[in-house]
Order: sequence, then structure tokens, then C-alpha cells
Amino acid sequence: MATLIDRASGLGPGASPEYRELIERWERKAEAAPVRRDKGSGAADRTISDVPLKPLYGPADVAQLDLTRDLGAPGEFPYTRGIHPTMYRSRLWTMRQFAGFGNAKQTNERYHFLLSQGQMGLSVAFDMPTLMGYDSDSPKALGEVGKCGVAIDSIRDMETLFDGIDLGAITTSMTINGPAAIALAQYIVTAENKGIPRAALGGTIQADILKEYIAQKEWIFPPRPHVRIIIDMMEFCTREMPKWNTISVSGYHIREAGSTAAQELAFTLADGFAYVEGAIARGLDVDAFAPRLSFFFNSHSDFFEEIAKFRAARRIYARRMRDVYGAKDPRSWQLRFHTQTAGCSATAQQPENNIVRVAYEAMAAVLGGTQSLHTNSMDEVLALPTEKSVEIALRTQQVLAYETNVTNVVDPLGGSYYVEALTAEIERQALDYFDRIAEFGGMIEAVEAGYPQREIADASYRYQRSIESGDRVIVGVNAFEKPDEVQSPDLLKIGVEIERGQARAVQDVRAGRDGSAVEASLAALKRACAGDANVMPALIECVRNVATEGEIVDAMVEVYGRYVEQTQF
Ligand code: 3HC
Repeated sequence: MATLIDRASGLGPGASPEYRELIERWERKAEAAPVRRDKGSGAADRTISDVPLKPLYGPADVAQLDLTRDLGAPGEFPYTRGIHPTMYRSRLWTMRQFAGFGNAKQTNERYHFLLSQGQMGLSVAFDMPTLMGYDSDSPKALGEVGKCGVAIDSIRDMETLFDGIDLGAITTSMTINGPAAIALAQYIVTAENKGIPRAALGGTIQADILKEYIAQKEWIFPPRPHVRIIIDMMEFCTREMPKWNTISVSGYHIREAGSTAAQELAFTLADGFAYVEGAIARGLDVDAFAPRLSFFFNSHSDFFEEIAKFRAARRIYARRMRDVYGAKDPRSWQLRFHTQTAGCSATAQQPENNIVRVAYEAMAAVLGGTQSLHTNSMDEVLALPTEKSVEIALRTQQVLAYETNVTNVVDPLGGSYYVEALTAEIERQALDYFDRIAEFGGMIEAVEAGYPQREIADASYRYQRSIESGDRVIVGVNAFEKPDEVQSPDLLKIGVEIERGQARAVQDVRAGRDGSAVEASLAALKRACAGDANVMPALIECVRNVATEGEIVDAMVEVYGRYVEQTQF
């Protein structure tokens, strides 16, 4: 059994006799110290991702850290310390609350509220029928319209959604994957109808379909046709929308499915590199599209592990983009990401505790160098946020930004024995996953074989076991419970009248348009999907003719079919 001093490895190379004596004195005290046996002590020797931890870190744990090769400077390759030289001293992260519920008018009102309270960018949450490609009057939509996001059936709803908002002055993120190209086409036409050219539009479309097969399960077509459409969007935006981030490669949902930090990092970056390889195979120059790739990570409850994960992510990404994909433009080496605090860490019990969890997770994201941030509302585990709860979530970011002073110094935890050692360990684990993914022939093949899915399921089981065993404490759930708690949070309710109204509205849209133009553009879309032409122009024409999302998806399904997942045990 290694002694504490080995574990603590407090001795660096060439430690002086005085320092050795000091550490040996610490070791004797540590050996004699009582060990906590209370709740949660069972997990004291590891992170929530089961990374083994030592009681103390010291110079030996950073002895391998090369200051130029591994740490660098902020705004310099490999960007471990941040992608900009002065980070938040020059510009705060974008406070970008994910929002959408009910119909477009209701959500438009919420957007105006959030912007009036200091939000800096928009982030659209669509309802399940929209995410899965069904119109609000489809039998498949029954009971879901407007429930987990906003219902968007056609260009008409998109125009209402952004009514009174200057799309040339704001950046908008749209969280949609299966029908992402349709949503992008709707956004482009909405802006053009307001006199704003597509080249002026700033924002992001999530579009990351690989993580849907891995974790969130919101797919429509089989993997390869979906990836083709994503590459079409990347090609189209690279050519016509220089300010648009063509994809938000997401680790958030991978983590929410129960992955470890290293799995989240590895599978997300591997997904990203699959898209990079697809775009290069399409003939795109890597420096033409890579500067507009973006990522999206979770900020979970293990404070230091999350910070280390973000720092490791930048270092891995920079090296692979330069050394594997031959990117020469520094902007292609910079990992730009949005972060959302961990929905899976929120509890229904004592929901006010979620305000505290979110604050810690938000601080980890900022100390980890995020570019954009969503803070979960305390009631999001029970319903979509009320105006009051989302205001508290936004204020959490503002208190963090303006009162804690954590923005004054760039990468303030850089150089910490523990953080640098943990950054290196998470990097090592992620690179190990890259090797295993390569054995499948790449990430698409690994996803088709169900490899990341199985790894995540195993990690999720281990994490849940640690809670059920009491090793890991979740306040209010397996410790400090209030069994007779009477919950009376004021929750947002989406009435059935929203669904009925939206169904009538989409029927009115179909009745009030040129049906032959719609049919002709849908036929042209099918030809584009079946051929090699970029599908975006045909999609834009369908949207201009007021084809509904459901009609467009049905036309594409005729060409590609719908994906059915092979069950993995
Ligand atoms: N020094 C110099 N310049 C700086 C700077 C600094 N410190 N900080 C920022 N800048 C510059 C940037 O370079 C950029 O310049 P550019 O426009 O010329 O590129 C500009 O200021 C704006 O900065 P960012 O681009 O970093 O900030 P944005 O907020 O515009 O973009 C992003 C951030 C991560 C790149 C972008 O992709 C983004 O906004 N992503 C958000 C994705 C999102 O919201 N997703 C929500 C998903 S919800 C979900 O899926 C969960 C649900 O399913 C449950």
C-alpha cells in the first residue's frame, strides 16, 4: 500500500531536505488524523467520475508539466489557459438562457423579458414535435405541443418568435438536430423577410446528430444521411454565412445520460472530429470551416473536475486540429464552447437547493473558460422555468460576473498542483478513448456499433450505485431529507388550449398558401436529397413557399427513411 507521501507525492524532483522534512511531518500528522465516516465520506478518494484522488498534491504532480508545451499562455496554442489573451477582462461570456415554451408569441415575450434583464444572446428551445419533425396537428404531437419548448411549424411561427428583435444585432442559438437544416432555413428566410441578409446573421445551430444516437435519441434519418446534411450546412454556411457557427458539437447530453467527465470530453471531441473529416472529404479547406465549429459541454457538480475537463478539452482540440487535420489558422485551433449547468444534478426535493448547485457549477464553467453559459432554473427538474425562476438563474450569472471578481484574473487556477494534475489525467483518459474509437474505424462506426452508448450506460450505473450506497451524498435526496416536505413551487403550466390553437394555426397556414408552389419545392427537395447537390437551397425554397416542417421532413423521409435503433444490452 503506497504511503500517504507517495500518494501525496508532495516531493518534487530535487526537493530540499527542509521540504522533505516538512512533507514527512505532514505525512505523520495525516496518518494519525481521524478519517471522516459520515455521509459521503465513501467517495472522498475519487471524483464523481471515479478519478482516484490523493489527499494532497504537490510539486511532483506537475513535474511533467511543460510550461510552454502544456500550459502556454491564454490566447496562445494549446489554449489550456483560455482561447483569448485576456478572456473575461476584455469580454464576459455570453449569458444565453435556453428558453422556449408554448407558442411563438409566448416565447417571444419571454425573449423580450430576458433581453430586458441583461441576457446577451438568444437560445431557442423547441418542443418535442418540432425536434422530431412533426407538425402540431400530427397525431404524433398529441399532448406534447409547446410542453418542453416552443412549437414552430412554419416560417410564420419563426417570424412571430423573433418579432421585435433585430436579428442583425443579436446572436441566436437554435437547439435542434434532426430538422436542424430546416430551422436554419427558416431563420435565414425570417431574417431576409426583415431585410437582413444571411451574411449578417450571427448564431449557432446545434445540428450535432451523432450525440443523438449516443445519448439524447432525437434523430430522424439514419446516421450517414444525417451527417451528409450536416456537411451540407457546414459547406453552405462557410460559403454564405461567415458569422454563423455551423454546429454545436454537444457533450451536454452525453453527460446527462450518465457519462464520466472524460467520456463526455472524448466522445464530444470525437464527434467533432468526425464532422471535420466529413467536411474535409467534401473538399472543404479545414481553415475555411473550422473557425466556425463550436462545442457545448455540461458543468457538473465536481467543481475541480469540471474545470480540469474544460482545460484538457482545449489542449486536446488545439493539438489535434493542428497536428492531425493540418489546420494552420489559429482560429481553427481554438475550442469555443457553450456550457449549461448539469440538469441531472438538480433535484425535485427541496428545489431551492438547485440555485446553490447552479451557482457552483456556473463558477466552474467560468473558471474553466466558457464562451457562453446557460444556468438552469431551480424548477427545471419539475417544469419549464417560470419568469421568476429564470430571472434568478440569470442573476446567478450576473452575481458571478460582477461581484465575485473571478473574472479579473485569467485562468486563476492555472498552475494549481491539483488542477494541472487533474487536467493531465482527464486528458490521458480522453486520449485513451480516442485509441479505442479508432479501433472501430472512427466515431460513426463506433456509434453504429453502440460503443459509446455502452460505456455511458456502465458509467451511469456506477454513479447511481454510489448514490444509492450512500457513498455519494445528494442533499435532500439521500441526506438531510424532509420526507414531509410540502412542495408548492409556482410552476409554469402549458394548457391544452396552446396545442389546440397551434393545430388550428398550422391548418390555417396550409390553407392560406400556394399549394402548387409547395408541392413543386418539395419535389425539388427530394431530388436534391437523392442527388449530390447541397440541400440548403432547396430547403430555403420550401420554407419560402411556407411548407411546414412536417411536410419537409416527410419528403426527406421518403428519400432517407426513418432510423430505428438496434437495442443494445
Ligand atoms: N477577447 C477578444 N475577443 C473576444 C473575447 C475576448 N476575451 N471574448 C469574445 N470575443 C469575441 C469572439 O472572438 C467573437 O468574435 P467573432 O464574432 O468575430 O467570432 C465575439 O467576441 C463573440 O464571442 P463568442 O463567439 O465567443 O460568443 P458567442 O456567444 O457569440 O458564441 C459560441 C459562443 C460557443 C461560439 C456559440 O457557438 C454559442 O453561442 N453557442 C451556444 C449554444 C447554445 O446555446 N446551446 C444551447 C443548447 S441547450 C441544450 O441542448 C440542452 C437541451 O437539449 C436540454
